[in-house]
Amino acid sequence: MVTDEREGFGVAMSRIVEHPIMGAPIKGIRVVFTYDGVEMEGYEGEPIAMALKAAGVEVHRFTAKRHEPRGIFCAIGRCTDCVMVVDGKPNVRTCMTPLAAGMDVRTQDGVAPLDLDDPRAEALVAEAAASPAAVREDE
Ligand code: FES
Repeated sequence: MVTDEREGFGVAMSRIVEHPIMGAPIKGIRVVFTYDGVEMEGYEGEPIAMALKAAGVEVHRFTAKRHEPRGIFCAIGRCTDCVMVVDGKPNVRTCMTPLAAGMDVRTQDGVAPLDLDDPRAEALVAEAAASPAAVREDE
């Protein structure tokens, strides 16, 4: 496995550039997004969690009861440990959500409160309720 390490926005970025089984990943164009208000770069279409991992970000959320940090665990959309607030929408599984230019990605604290003045609030609640991977509140 060959990795590529270089500087990007003040942090070392590390990515697999040649995997022994999967070969070289196909990358989209480099795009800028924000993580908790800080500009970062990633590749369009890669999972948000991958762009964050490459930039050294390990914590995606804090649990509701014990406020323990969580990050990538399953990486296949099952555990909900990677959920974050993306463009104002809470409980987004970042391991399964493609990165796009200009995204506003924020660390989620517990089950993120919803801004009821947001015109998208009703649709976001319905979508979250229908999700098979609702964020666990028992930890
Ligand atoms: S890491 Fe498990 S759902 Fe994303």
